[in-house]
Amino acid sequence: MNRLEELSRQNRENYERYLKRMTESIRNSTKGFLPIMARKGKRILDVGCGSGVLLYALSAENPEAELTGLDLNAEALNGLREAGAPFTLIHGDFLAINEGKYDTVVFSSILHEISSYCPEESRRFTGGPIEDALRKCREIMPAGGTVLIRDGVGTEEEQQNVPAVISFKKPGDSEWLFRFQKDFRGFDRTDVCCEITDLGDGRYQVGRSFLKEFLCTYTWGPESYAREICERFGVLTERGWIQALTNNGFSVETVTKSKEEYEKFLSDRVVITNTDATPYEYPYMTVILKAEKR
Ligand SMILES: C[S@@+](CC[C@H](N)C(=O)[O-])C[C@H]1O[C@@H](n2cnc3c(N)ncnc32)[C@H](O)[C@@H]1O
Repeated sequence: MNRLEELSRQNRENYERYLKRMTESIRNSTKGFLPIMARKGKRILDVGCGSGVLLYALSAENPEAELTGLDLNAEALNGLREAGAPFTLIHGDFLAINEGKYDTVVFSSILHEISSYCPEESRRFTGGPIEDALRKCREIMPAGGTVLIRDGVGTEEEQQNVPAVISFKKPGDSEWLFRFQKDFRGFDRTDVCCEITDLGDGRYQVGRSFLKEFLCTYTWGPESYAREICERFGVLTERGWIQALTNNGFSVETVTKSKEEYEKFLSDRVVITNTDATPYEYPYMTVILKAEKR
């Protein structure tokens, strides 16, 4: 059993809440995907379909489409089957599939998971497993096929680890910062620096890539904590995503970045500034890319 399946089983009750929360969040990706959905070819594969909310949105938008959902998590697929979902459902690891032909392949919030749960320790939390997935994607589509990706995005400033200062509006919430420092799996083998400097008055200085990973976990709340500390969201920068697609024979057509969801949630809970106390601009958290197989 893969580490991710194990985590989902151990936290079965939390996993249901997590799926529900994910369903709310995906409304944003649905908004991002539908207008850029490819209109050529009927066969669409939603990799890591989870609760299937994107599949339902796609079928309402395009009744002619032949929709397939693939997920590593059997429970998510069982839920869909019990509800009589009119899609082909495949249980398995995307990297291990070896058949099927699809005109469009959608990866909504899954490629960072493929990177974070890579069984080869030395490649975990890197762009390598993402490139493996893109190579696999290339194998299962004809020339002219489309790939759509929604995932986390890192920034150049984060990579240079420029520091920022965070304080919490809710008393006691700074505990989450220290808990995350202890628990996040990505520190020992990535460039994410885990240092926290206590500046007094409830203000803490941290590097921006630390902040990015912490904010992603903090936003998703306690029920997702056990998963989120195992996942690195900002694995690739925008340039990195484009490079990974180009390296694997895709031409990038559209790139959209967003941060609204995080800004809305976090502005009630934290104050973040630059080290000179000037207002901090939230970094882009999510990127949507559309690319065509050359
Ligand atoms: C964060 S959820 C995203 C679900 C949905 N696509 C969305 O946007 O809301 C990631 C999903 O990908 C699945 N997943 C992760 N790694 C996978 C892999 N290697 N093969 C197939 N599914 C995978 C997980 O089980 C989970 O349901």
